[in-house]
Amino acid sequence: SSKPKPWVIGNWKMNPETPMAQQQLTQQLIDQIIHDPASDMGATTLNLAVAPTFLHLLMVQQQLQQAKSPVQVVAQDVSRFAGTGAYTGDVSAQLLASAGITITLIGHSERRSLYAEGAVVLREKLQAAVKAGLDIVFCIGETLSEREAGQAEQVVLQQIAEVFDSVSLQDWQQHLIIAYEPVWAIGTGKTASPDDAESMHAAIRTGLKKYHPSLVDVPILYGGSVKPDNAASLAACANINGALVGGASLDAGSFIKIAQAF
Ligand code: G3P
Repeated sequence: SSKPKPWVIGNWKMNPETPMAQQQLTQQLIDQIIHDPASDMGATTLNLAVAPTFLHLLMVQQQLQQAKSPVQVVAQDVSRFAGTGAYTGDVSAQLLASAGITITLIGHSERRSLYAEGAVVLREKLQAAVKAGLDIVFCIGETLSEREAGQAEQVVLQQIAEVFDSVSLQDWQQHLIIAYEPVWAIGTGKTASPDDAESMHAAIRTGLKKYHPSLVDVPILYGGSVKPDNAASLAACANINGALVGGASLDAGSFIKIAQAF
């Protein structure tokens, strides 16, 4: 089957600090993408998106829509509770959907490590998200000690296995994107080599195909210190269908260079 349409998603995490800085970064993306006639980013060949904080999600979305930018917005996380109700501090998939947000990250390594999110919570989040019709970027990845112990593949495939049956096969076919982010490569400046990344992506794809042949088409993104100077070699790998970019996405020029590589 042919390579799925790539995704390049900028995960802004808890950055940048002020509403003004959020607007400036968004405006730079708008200006630079519109002023680049050589690229067709976001229109037909690439899905381009940014994930601001919950506080800024709608502001950024409105700014992008007003400028008719192809850049989409993604939530960084979602409540494990569906619908509405007494869940102080949470934002549900249903609220996101009703505000026109159609995609969310789930299971980012920072959520797993800093907020102790494991299989039980992640299954609930997946269920809540598909119930609201959201697309999901489900993040997986091994730690350095797991890689050094030779367990990287096993850990990553287990992270899929433990949530797999929480949603339907049809949901997997239509709403799931995988992001492989080795924990040791996140924010460290150490990227997985294209060979290591490709071999993990191939293992993930083979693993998905075992559940059902149609899952060969699930996009598998790479994340972890993706920068303009390593994006092209990652993009060239057969099983890498895009990038989830942290630090480099806070600089519009760098983010666009990465997008152009895919
Ligand atoms: O979600 C993206 C991420 O965790 C990678 O961050 O800063 O290494 O690109 P960074």
